Amino acid sequence: MKTIATLPKSSSGLLVLTSWVLIFMELCTVFSGGEAAHAVKRFTGLYTGPYFDPSTTTNITTQLGTHAYLPCKVKQLGNKSVSWIRRRDAHILTVDRFTFIADDRFQAFLVESTDTWTLQVKYVQARDAGQYECQVSTEPKMSHFITLNVVVPKIEIMGESDIYVKTGSPVTLKCIITQSLEEPAYIFWYHDGERMLENYLAISEIRMERVRADTTIGTLQIHHARPEDSGNYTCSPSNLDSASVLLHVLNGEHPAAMQRGKNSASPIPGWSHLSMGLGLGACTSPRFAFAIALSVAAIAELLVT
Ligand SMILES: *[C@@H]1O[C@H](CO)[C@@H](O)[C@H](O)[C@H]1NC(C)=O
Ligand SMILES: *[C@@H]1O[C@H](CO)[C@@H](O)[C@H](O)[C@H]1NC(C)=O
Ligand SMILES: *[C@@H]1O[C@H](CO)[C@@H](O)[C@H](O)[C@H]1NC(C)=O
Repeated sequence: MKTIATLPKSSSGLLVLTSWVLIFMELCTVFSGGEAAHAVKRFTGLYTGPYFDPSTTTNITTQLGTHAYLPCKVKQLGNKSVSWIRRRDAHILTVDRFTFIADDRFQAFLVESTDTWTLQVKYVQARDAGQYECQVSTEPKMSHFITLNVVVPKIEIMGESDIYVKTGSPVTLKCIITQSLEEPAYIFWYHDGERMLENYLAISEIRMERVRADTTIGTLQIHHARPEDSGNYTCSPSNLDSASVLLHVLNGEHPAAMQRGKNSASPIPGWSHLSMGLGLGACTSPRFAFAIALSVAAIAELLVT
């Protein structure tokens, strides 16, 4: 008798649970940007004419000064044209293979094997960042949008811009390059404009290491600083601006002002991870709240039966 009485109760509990889960899924879709909803829309129905391959990326990130490639994958294009338009000023950049802007950094080409019309942007500048539209000349027109992000690498030598040391002490200069998608091929060090070569290597050591996917550290170590090692030290990576510090090797024994000069902030490792974490939080927190709500509902259900 008891089991029969509980059955409808637990099935109503199941109903409550199911609706909670549905509400949660709805919310999570809203919070995660609705990208999935777009893809689904493009998929519906059979295609008699051109259609965008839903796997085409919508977000390209490239480093300042490099070449960017914006793909537009169109299936069953037939004899339709593909144009690339810059959204910022609605400027038509290309139509098929022809460039319609007085800037020869822009060029479109077709890779037939993958049905992809790619817009190439050479030597990307900061102002190239923004949205680009790949438009197919159907009636009505079809558009696919791609966002181009341009990252600008940052370079600095850790610590003060003026460094004071006593004769004979070791000196370590760390040149930190962040937000660089492309690792520099090399880092040159200059002492008062003169490249530090073999003559310097006898008294020092130069290293370069990639510490993270976007971070490189160049290290210059002088084992025993001499007064003539004083001067301007410049760290100059192959693909970037340079950074400099002034080294003062003191002869006397009381370097009074050891800590002068600008108090430059050193980059904080893991900062970008933190911001990514916050983005995910939009989905995580409602999930957490609903998990709690569900457990409470389930416990209440148990208590009632
Ligand atoms: C696009 O990519 C960049 C860098 O990877 C990222 O910061 C940004 O949030 C992405 N945007 C979207 C809409 O996914
Ligand atoms: C494209 O092809 C269709 C038939 O497949 C034809 O009717 C139409 O005139 C063509 N358009 C152009 C611009 O050539
Ligand atoms: C150090 O040298 C670099 C490169 O020659 C120069 O740009 C910079 O202004 C110099 N810094 C100082 C403080 O003299």
